[in-house]
Amino acid sequence: MAKINDNYLKLKAGYLFPEIGRRVRAFAEANPQANVIRLGIGDVTRPLAPAILKAFHDAVDDLSRVETFAGYGPEQGYDWLINAIIEKSYNKLGVSLKTSEIFVSDGSKCDCANILDIFALDNVVAIGDPVYPVYNDTNVMIGRTGEADDKGYYKGVVYMPCNEDNGFIPSLPTEKVDIIYLCFPNNPTGVVASKAELKKWVDYAIANDAVIFFDAAYEAFITDPSIPHSIYEIEGAKKCAIEFRSFSKTAGFTGVRCGLVVVPEEVMGTTTSGETYSFNKLWLRRTTTKFNGASYPVQRAAAAVYSDEGWAQTKELVDYYMENARIIREGLKEAGCTVYGGVNAPYIWLKTPGGMSSWDFFDKLLTECNVVGTPGSGFGPSGEGFFRLSAFGSRENVIEAVERIKKNLK
Ligand code: MLT
Repeated sequence: MAKINDNYLKLKAGYLFPEIGRRVRAFAEANPQANVIRLGIGDVTRPLAPAILKAFHDAVDDLSRVETFAGYGPEQGYDWLINAIIEKSYNKLGVSLKTSEIFVSDGSKCDCANILDIFALDNVVAIGDPVYPVYNDTNVMIGRTGEADDKGYYKGVVYMPCNEDNGFIPSLPTEKVDIIYLCFPNNPTGVVASKAELKKWVDYAIANDAVIFFDAAYEAFITDPSIPHSIYEIEGAKKCAIEFRSFSKTAGFTGVRCGLVVVPEEVMGTTTSGETYSFNKLWLRRTTTKFNGASYPVQRAAAAVYSDEGWAQTKELVDYYMENARIIREGLKEAGCTVYGGVNAPYIWLKTPGGMSSWDFFDKLLTECNVVGTPGSGFGPSGEGFFRLSAFGSRENVIEAVERIKKNLK
């Protein structure tokens, strides 16, 4: 019989969001009259912006004519999209990048997982706790960890607790690590990091020959002008950081699928025999071998985000969700909750009332308010006693959910 990759058996539970989906479906089947409002997974609800939709339609039409038909594109993305990304997302921050440093993909979740292919297994990784579960689970799957302990910490991983005491910003590891995951604005806590904070991490990475995986999927939701949108706003970061970005939340592409990775040519690693080698070259090799590029219409739609119209319409979408975040945040505060996030991020992180466990609070909200959120403990042991609400619902649902929660908790 063929052998399985038994690293998968080390995983303690199913992936968080399908597990929540399963519980919600069971509740909805048993209570068909309940009007369940879903503010769990960060899935967008607004339609694509008109300029983006038009570009998408036009690109599909291109496929209907011999003269404009597109077959395989460049595996790492079309230059017209990459150049728009560089100009509109990076140059305006004072960051210059080469086209060869950007890789367009079918989404950031895959990128965060796939990047592990080009790093040796004996690298030590540091991961926040709580954290987007993909970072942790993909390291388990690839075989970088041992078994989990009773709390859910996997042997071999350096966990960086993020709690109220440190403002949910991890402290620098006290031991030497090789790979550091950072996500700002943070999923799940919604906190952001200042330039000074990120500088500490860049300095650590340079001093320790480490690489930072910087997940900037939520950068579009930053409202405070002093907060960096990209790790490359920090001097030296091009030597030590790989950045992930996504069109999912920014432009409503959760179903369309498009993301990108920035792998600067200066980010170097070492071979087993001690020579330095560029991660950019390895990522290009991996991408051209394992991927045939995001689809042509999707890339055309993504490029339309950077048109004047598309940019303005995308901003309106972001503002819509951020107003939802404000409504949730203010409503929960009125209900007496301690809340974090929701100012520069579309997630609100609240302390469960009365010290309830995260899953007990999940059950309470589901059964008593018919509102779905995400238990903080699902993001890691330090998330216990916290709960995440997403601002990506419709305005109507967000207002209704907040009213129900307020009534229930008062
Ligand atoms: C989340 O809810 O944390 C995200 O939607 C998950 C994702 O982006 O994959």
